[in-house]
Amino acid sequence: MSELSQLVEQARQAFAQAKHPAELEDAKALFLGKSGRITELMKGLSSLSVEEKKTQGAAINETKRAVEGLLQDARQAMADAALAKQLAAEALDVTMPGRRRSTGGLHPVSLTLERIESIFGSMGFDVADGPEIETDWFNFTALNTPADHPARSMHDTFYVEGGQQDAPNLLRTHTSPMQIRHAVQHVKRYQTDIEAGKGMPEIRVIAPGRTYRVDSDATHSPMFHQCEGLWIGENVSFKDLRNVFTRFCQTFFENDDLVLRFRPSFFPFTEPSAEIDIQFPSGPLAGRWLEVAGSGQVHPNVVRNMGLDPERYIGFAFGMGPDRLTMLRYDIGDLRLFFDGDLRFLQQFN
Ligand code: DAH
Repeated sequence: MSELSQLVEQARQAFAQAKHPAELEDAKALFLGKSGRITELMKGLSSLSVEEKKTQGAAINETKRAVEGLLQDARQAMADAALAKQLAAEALDVTMPGRRRSTGGLHPVSLTLERIESIFGSMGFDVADGPEIETDWFNFTALNTPADHPARSMHDTFYVEGGQQDAPNLLRTHTSPMQIRHAVQHVKRYQTDIEAGKGMPEIRVIAPGRTYRVDSDATHSPMFHQCEGLWIGENVSFKDLRNVFTRFCQTFFENDDLVLRFRPSFFPFTEPSAEIDIQFPSGPLAGRWLEVAGSGQVHPNVVRNMGLDPERYIGFAFGMGPDRLTMLRYDIGDLRLFFDGDLRFLQQFN
């Protein structure tokens, strides 16, 4: 084998041995680089005769082209191999079952809130929304619960920055502040008519939302829900409240035989006050009185704080616990399940 064809053979082997592009470029330098073997052969031509230069030069050029061809092939093979490896690594198994996208659903308490809103909505009640960080005035004082009132101790809560020095803002302990907030707005809207003695349309509103207390066990959570109800007019009576609330409970629990009882109680913002208990005639809870709401005739001081004359306007209020209603509706024993975020529990409601 001639020296030149040996050289081509050596280049082929060197290129074949290269494992990385960098090694291939090193091998290339050995043959085609500035002081590579082919370059050296070219340099050697200068000492030859014109005739020899011609034949030798042509042969060396041919060799050079052959080596360059080999190099090109090796580069291509290396790139192909890298691509094949990448494709293999990123291969998709199109026969694998897809990941199912589950449909979202509403939280059981949200379902209850929607239900409450739609039932009361059908009876002409508006839905109001208000802040969870409340002032001392709206949460307590305006509701006839002054600073030294013992009822405040049952509403221990979380105090936050802001408010007055001896009356800091707080996370509302009930939705009752919405009675004042909503009524004040309503009164403002009809102020001219009220002052002219024409009166105002009745206030009929519910206000569902989150409330907070320092309380935590199977039936109490530091964050829980309430839904306030307020009905103020010139001709509203306890009988109306009873009718509306009975209708609500029967519709909510889909049970026309469910009965109600008003049990005397105390709340600073109502006088007289009553707890509302319900009883199912049949089913797992049959025969037991179950407390579902507090209620009462709005106290004259509270009516005054709404900007209304208690001699002319009379009203009724109630406050219920949507969490408890949800527990009763679905027969759930532990309130904390609502707030654990466990999908196995939550998925059952959708
Ligand atoms: N706010 C009371 C509570 O959280 C519940 C309540 C009782 C609301 C009587 C009312 C009411 O509107 O009239 O314990």
